Amino acid sequence: MPLTNSQQLDYVATLITDCTKCPLYKTATHSVPGSGNPTAEIVFIGEAPGFFEDQQGLPFVGNSGKLLDKLLLTISLKREEVFIANILKHRPPENRDPLPDEIRVCTPYLKAQLKIIKPKIIITLGRFAMNYFFPNESISRIRGQIRSLVWQDLPLTIIPVYHPSAGLRNGAMLQSLTDDFKTIGQFLGRI
Ligand code: URA
Repeated sequence: MPLTNSQQLDYVATLITDCTKCPLYKTATHSVPGSGNPTAEIVFIGEAPGFFEDQQGLPFVGNSGKLLDKLLLTISLKREEVFIANILKHRPPENRDPLPDEIRVCTPYLKAQLKIIKPKIIITLGRFAMNYFFPNESISRIRGQIRSLVWQDLPLTIIPVYHPSAGLRNGAMLQSLTDDFKTIGQFLGRI
């Protein structure tokens, strides 16, 4: 019997929890592999766990997560329907930006997760997740655009948006996020 997506994702999560490929595991409390529907059509990708995510081992459970929940509500999407993951699986100290070496050694886990889930649509939250798929692009230029990309043999629709934490800091960015979620909702036929 082949393993289910859920079993395969659980296996990747054990590799993440045991990972020592970069120093972040030394300062983290928990790994945050990601959570949600193992057969999701839509995957959201953030940057890295923050304080509360590190405490709980779950993605987007702090203030950014609360805003993400509100934005999901505006397009009638439930967390259980989607999968939510991050570029980095362990928290960087003081929530500093991910380093290039950390991204290089950590993103094979994200790649493995995406190859298991095989989503049709990816929403990237913030510039680090956007840059994973579009290394030469700028978030302010392409946020809110509906992009088609064949990535690792997977035909994907990718919609980059600002990170929710930017929306919490800056009213103009919150407006952009709200507008871009409307674009997502219309694309999905949810609003
Ligand atoms: N910010 C992120 O990018 N990811 C999380 O899981 C939480 C906050």
